Formats: sequence, C-alpha cells, structure tokens
Amino acid sequence: MTRIIAISSGKGGVGKTTLVANLAAALAQYGKSVVAVDANLTTSNLALHLGMHLYPKTIHDVFEGRAKVSDVLYTHKTGFKVIPADISLRKTKNIKSHHYIDVLYKLLEGHDFILIDTPAGLGKESMAAMEAADELLTVTNPELPAVTDAFKLVMLASKYSTHNLGIILNRVKNETHELPAEHIERMIGLPIIGTVPEDREVRKAIAMKEPVVVYNPRSPAAQHIRAIAASLIGETYTPRIPLSYRLFNWLYGR
Ligand SMILES: Nc1ncnc2c1ncn2[C@@H]1O[C@H](COP(=O)(O)OP(=O)(O)O)[C@@H](O)[C@H]1O
Ligand SMILES: [Mg+2]
Repeated sequence: MTRIIAISSGKGGVGKTTLVANLAAALAQYGKSVVAVDANLTTSNLALHLGMHLYPKTIHDVFEGRAKVSDVLYTHKTGFKVIPADISLRKTKNIKSHHYIDVLYKLLEGHDFILIDTPAGLGKESMAAMEAADELLTVTNPELPAVTDAFKLVMLASKYSTHNLGIILNRVKNETHELPAEHIERMIGLPIIGTVPEDREVRKAIAMKEPVVVYNPRSPAAQHIRAIAASLIGETYTPRIPLSYRLFNWLYGR
C-alpha cells in the first residue's frame, strides 16, 4: 500500500522542503520506493533543493493538460522520484484537492511513499494538497509564532480525514528561550515524533543542491532525519553524534 504523507506547517521557512528532500532520500536509502511531489505552485523550490530545476515539464503542465504524470516523474540520483513544480512566476488558478488526487492516483502503483511538500500558510493551495493526502506530518520550530501556526493547521486538518502522524520539531538549538518540547506537544495536541537540530550542514547541503543525508550523512541533522525515516517504516535508528563534532559545533557555533 502506498502511504501519501503531506509535510505541512502553518508558518513558512520552518523546514518542510528540506524535510521532504531528505526524508525522500533517507527512505530511498532504506530501499523504499518514494515520490516527492512539489505542491508549492507559486513558491516552489523542491527542485532547487535537489538540483533538478532545469527539467522542461512540471506539475503545472499536468494541471494545465499539457503533460501526463509520467512525463514529469524525474529520478533523483539516490533513486527516489520527483514531481517538480515550475520555479518561474507561473500561475495555475483554482487548484483543488481533486487535481492532486488525480495525480496521486496515477502514482499509487509500485510506490511505498508519496511525500507532498505543501505550501506554507492556511490558504486554498495548502489545504488542497493536504486534503489529498492520507497522513499529515506537521513541521514547526521551537518558537511561539511557528507553534501557533502549526496549531491552526492541525485544527483545520481535523476537518479532513487526514491522519495526524505528529510533529517534527526542526532547527532545535537547545537554547534557554526555546519552547520546551512538552509545551509544544501540549499546545498543538500532538506528539513530537522527530527532532532535528539546527545544523549548518543543512545550509551547506542546500547550497550544493543535495539532501544533507547524502551530502554529509554523519552530520547531526542527517542522522536525526534518518531516525524519522526509520520510524516511518517501523525501524529504529539511533543518532550517534561524535564528540569531536559536538565540540567543534560548540566552539565555532552552528
Ligand atoms: N535543521 C536545519 N538546520 C539549519 N538550517 C535549516 C534547517 N532546516 C532548515 N534550515 C534552513 O531554513 C531554510 C528554510 O527551509 P525550507 O525547508 O525551505 O522551509 P519551508 O519549506 O518550510 O519554507 C533553509 O533554506 C535552510 O537554510
Ligand atoms: Mg518550502
């Protein structure tokens, strides 16, 4: 059975696209067949994270009837498939969940996971993508504005039959002013199923247009993302961050 998971947030910039790119790569490394779909129709950048932005056809062409789903299914070097969106300022109006469902339906055969990189915000574009998914991963940072928006997202999601998998807490620095994990769980009303530390290797990997799990698999962020991927398939991966790494980060900042 194919699991269709929307990776969503209320607030933008919390790490959805980073997580989609990396969970797709990590699940592929576990031997799973994965498709990452960019549902950001106005501010897409999944293809940029993956260095796959020069491909001629995108999900926009599918929605506008100029391409078939199979024409826009590109393969990343780690083996997972990507359906990119157009990075230019191109508008496709009135996208509803059934448009995504049509695309997703054609992907069901032969794939273990479909990960949807949803747009930020609580507007029609993000709701359409979220409604089309079966499961929802809510991404937030340990800051009040991001957590408040995540709560609103989860409230809106309760209208649909999308199953809440829980929260991914990204960019954790363990600084004293950060909201504690238990507060976040209580505020949103869901468990935290994965935590990813602030790690400059993530930014370096994005600059190199590679998922950090490929660019630097030993980095703390890569290991924590691998742990989330493992939990999605019922396996366990325990991050082991070398002391030298922790010392270096402590001395030179992240
Ligand atoms: N764990 C992390 N450590 C350091 N920087 C991160 C981390 N996760 C995300 N970032 C930074 O945050 C930026 C925004 O992430 P992105 O995945 O594009 O967010 P979203 O898709 O939610 O808008 C990235 O370009 C990267 O610079
Ligand atoms: Mg994004």
